[in-house]
Amino acid sequence: MLNKEVAKLLNEQVVKEFYSAYLYLDISNYFYDEGLDGFGNWFYIQAQEERDHAMLFNTYLRNNSEKVSLGAIDAPYKHYTNFKAPLEATLAHEQFVTASIHTIYEAAFAVKDFRTMQFLDWFVKEQGEEEKNAEDLIKRYDLFGSDAKSLYMLDNELASRVYAAPSLVL
Ligand code: FEO
Repeated sequence: MLNKEVAKLLNEQVVKEFYSAYLYLDISNYFYDEGLDGFGNWFYIQAQEERDHAMLFNTYLRNNSEKVSLGAIDAPYKHYTNFKAPLEATLAHEQFVTASIHTIYEAAFAVKDFRTMQFLDWFVKEQGEEEKNAEDLIKRYDLFGSDAKSLYMLDNELASRVYAAPSLVL
């Protein structure tokens, strides 16, 4: 059994990760609708990775004999008026998730729950990568997004992203 507060935060993280999947699936649909299939593909894979994260938190709770309580998932924000807006929304969301993971880490640290801290280590590193990916995407969009030919090439590059299962196995 885990500490009550740690278990509660882990439960909430399951929902946050599913929301992340939902948000990125919505952004993927937005880009496909706009004819940018490469961006659509990139976000579709991002959504798959977030679903994996949710499942990992779910499995971790179950592996520790904790009941999983699945809360409601909010509808994702839509209404993007330009291509850069969802990229900025992605970075802001990843920063939010990083803060959330850190909050769980602090709670685990406070009760000397070293097992949960070790589980979270993978996510701390992953969040660093995800924030960097989101920042890079914005930078590249700023460089190439205003020219149709360059945007086409960037879109083609993002089309090559393929899904890989998470390196963390529970
Ligand atoms: Fe699983 Fe990008 O947070």
